[in-house]
Order: sequence, then C-alpha cells, then structure tokens
Amino acid sequence: MPDRVLVLDYGSQFTQLIARRIREAHVYCEIHPPTRSIDWVRRWAPKGIVLSGGPSSVYEEEGPGLDPAVLRLGVPVLGICYGMQLIARSEGGVVVPGKREYGRARLRVHEADALFAGFGEGDAVVWCSHGDHVDEAPPGFVATASTADLPVAAFRAEGRPIHGVQFHPEVAHTPRGGEIVANFLFGICGCAPGWTSSTFVTDAVARISEQVGDEQVLCGLSGGVDSSVAAALVQKAVGDQLLCVFVDTGMMRRNERRDVEQMFRDHMGIRLVVVDASAEFLSKIANIAEPEHKRKVIGETFIRVFERAAREFGGNARFLVQGTLYPDVIESLPVRGPSATIKTHHNVGGLPDDISFELVEPLRELFKDEVREAGRALGLHEDFIRRHPFPGPGLAIRVLGAVTEDRLRVLRHADAIYLEEIRAAGLYDEIWQAFAVLLPVRSVGVMGDARTYENVVALRAVNSRDGMTADWYPFDPAFLARVSTRLINEVKGVNRVAYDISSKPPATIEWE
Ligand code: XMP
Repeated sequence: MPDRVLVLDYGSQFTQLIARRIREAHVYCEIHPPTRSIDWVRRWAPKGIVLSGGPSSVYEEEGPGLDPAVLRLGVPVLGICYGMQLIARSEGGVVVPGKREYGRARLRVHEADALFAGFGEGDAVVWCSHGDHVDEAPPGFVATASTADLPVAAFRAEGRPIHGVQFHPEVAHTPRGGEIVANFLFGICGCAPGWTSSTFVTDAVARISEQVGDEQVLCGLSGGVDSSVAAALVQKAVGDQLLCVFVDTGMMRRNERRDVEQMFRDHMGIRLVVVDASAEFLSKIANIAEPEHKRKVIGETFIRVFERAAREFGGNARFLVQGTLYPDVIESLPVRGPSATIKTHHNVGGLPDDISFELVEPLRELFKDEVREAGRALGLHEDFIRRHPFPGPGLAIRVLGAVTEDRLRVLRHADAIYLEEIRAAGLYDEIWQAFAVLLPVRSVGVMGDARTYENVVALRAVNSRDGMTADWYPFDPAFLARVSTRLINEVKGVNRVAYDISSKPPATIEWE
C-alpha cells in the first residue's frame, strides 16, 4: 500500500483543496470526520495527519474537538487554522478569540526549516481567514513564523513532529503553499510520492478483477468523461464480461452517438449496445415546456429505458458500473449544514434504488482532474478527456419551451457551428463549457429584400472551476461576428444571434 495521509475535516470550505494539494504531490490521502476513533486512526496507518480549518471556535462547547491521543501517536500532524488552534488549546497555548482577519498577509519566516525549508528567512505572502488566532505557542513549542498581526503564524513542537499554521497553505492565494504542503509530506512525514495515475490504474484493475470475478458487468455510457473512464477501467480488468449501453435520447448533439460508437466499439473494442429511444423520449416530452417537468420526465424515461435494456442485453449481469467520484463519497461534517452534504443527483443516468445490481464504482476515490489523468493513462482519446460537461437532459433544456424534432434540428446545427468555430479558434480547452440555446421567441429580420420572422439563437460560454459559480467568457468581437454570420447564413430558420453576458450567480449556466 502506498504511503497515505489522513485529512480530518473540521468543516472548512477548503478541506477538499487540502486533499487536492496532497494528491497533486502524488501522495494518496483521504478526508474523514474528526469523530473517527483513535483506534480507527491507528489501524488506518497514516504517514501524516492534517487537521483542517473550520468555522468553529475552540471556545464553543459544541465545537468539534481533537482527541489528544492523536498528538501522541508519533505520526506527524499539521494543523491548519482551526486545526492549529485545536493543537494550541490541547497543549496549553493561548488562543485569542474574536479578532477577524481575512485576506493576504506577509509572513516572516523565523526558521527556514521543516515546513519552511527552502524559504530563506524573509517574507512570503500567505492568505488568512480566521476569527480566533494563536497568541502564544504552548510550552515546548516554538513560533516559526509571524505576520504583522499574528505573533504565532506558525509553530512546531520541539522534539515531536507536530506543526501548525494559522494561514491557509492550500489556497491559490498562498503562492508558496504547495511548497509548505510538500515540505510536510516529504520532509516531515517522509512520504514517497507513489500516487500516480498509472499506479491508480494498476490497483483499480486488480480490485475490479477481484470484485467481479467471472461475472457479467453492465455500464451505462453517457459520453461524458466519468462514465467513459469507468468503462475503460472495467474493460481493462474484465474485458468482454463488460457490456456498455448507450441510450440515444434524441437530445444529443450532432454526431454524439456516432462519436461514442467509434470511440468505444471501434477504437477500444468495448462491447456496446446502442438503444435508440429517441422516439420514446420525444413523445414523452412533447408539449412540456416547464424545465423541471422536462427534467423529471426525461429522468424517469431514462430509467425505464435503461431497465429494459438491462433486462434485454444484460440479463445475466450481476454488477453495474457507476461513475461516482470522491466528492460524492466524502463524509462531511454536519457543521457545514445539509446544503453542502446533500448533492442533488439530477444526472440523467442516476439509476433507481430498487435496481438489483451490485455496484462497481472504480472512481470513488478520484477527484475530477484525477479522472482525466486516469483516462489518459488508459489511452482514452484526448477529445473525450477534455470534453465540456454536458447535462443529462441534453438539448431538451437548451430548446427553451416545448421541444420538437424540428427545433432540435435547428439547435443541433447551430451548436455544431458554434463549437466548430471555438475549436478552430483554439479556444475549446480554454473555455469550461460552451453551447448554443434556441430561444422560444421569434424576431423580425430582413434577408435579401424580404422580411423574415424567425428564431433567435443565444450563445453561451463560461469559465468555471466546478460549475457552482461561473463567469461569461469574453470573446473577441471578431470571433462573435464570424459565428453570427455563419449561423444566420447556414442555419435555416435563424435570423438573429445573441451572446449571453450573465455570470452565475445570479444567472445559471444553462438557461433552463
Ligand atoms: P447550472 O445551469 O445549474 O449548471 O448553472 C451547472 C452545471 O450543471 C449542468 N447541468 C446539469 N447536468 N443534469 C445534469 O447532468 C441536469 O439536469 C443539469 N442541469 C445543469 C450544466 O450543464 C452545468 O455544467
């Protein structure tokens, strides 16, 4: 087993970033609640333990605590912000409540060693966000850095591998934070950087083979990166015992079905069944204009179609592949409130609870970036790996109002031209998500000498990290002019093009 680090989550909004920084350094880590027992921690055998920040104060009776035994394990510990305050409190230091500090600060490093190896004695910019702070290091600890406002911006125990920082090394606003994390992992914990996409693939393949044995496995492919990588992994493990099912909902983009067939069947040699259910989907959503109603009907239809396909083609399958990712698995602290712990599974492809399969979830321990890396290690085509996200209900929520085959055709054509131009301009990878939307209004125009009364297409392009917030993409006007000319000339039924300049919030990325 490769070296691994335990991140105890005290509810910081940055806990996942801590885990990502550690994994980027090629060390495996997991996030767990701080309520894990000391015996559990010992059995888990971490090479290092990170205590995250959090919204609580060490003066709150109800705040999540730290079992002092964690500091006696002999395993290196790094406390970040609230994590540092917990160490201070536990070891007899002074934590001062209630002086909010937020934003960048200049760190004066006193000891260019251990956490700050390679820093030299001098300044570094760090980012802070705290209410309480450590004012005096506990007995047997030394302050290793300070800022104008923080006498103890970092500390370490003498003779024990216990460290704390009051600032946040995991955020991008702390430019040398990655070095601090690496110093902890390699210099202090002595971890080996053994977590790479190819070791992940090797381990995952072995685990899947063991789980599945010689049973049959079914996988629903959406064409998105998660289900693609999951399918490729399972195929590598059990070959033709895997059968993939792609449901053509009729709400796909141009060539989507063809691309999936070529990629999986022809290029990767995966057994693939394509179920053309477009007529069924179209008739189910005909006359439904309300977006949530559309989503619901599409979701239900998808489940029914998939169940039928499972019975028909995967009758003997005992296992079903799901592309669950690590952020869905993390057991978060209740301090974050239900909104952060409950993920709305609005993905079409979300399967019914009563379906009688055992699940194979080969991506359960990966973040999205790591899924892409694994895809590369598996030899998936870059085009699949770098695809923009595409919503489960597909073009149905981009044909605003009632969906008809005709309107889908107009949108599909417009969307294909828009994306073709984005690719030609070399912008595809720079943009997080881009698509066209067909508006439910008509607009007057003039073409030749005649009046027209036709459709309006809106173009959307956004940059985002995770889809939770997004900024509209500032295209060069010449690019927009080119796309607009092509759309109006080439797409029959369109006489006006608009560019969406709303960010999320308050808008959302999709229009419906
Ligand atoms: P919104 O519109 O909520 O979209 O800002 C955020 C991201 O989620 C995608 N999206 C969906 N994905 N089923 C999905 O699988 C849906 O019903 C759905 N609605 C939005 C959207 O494309 C964007 O990437």
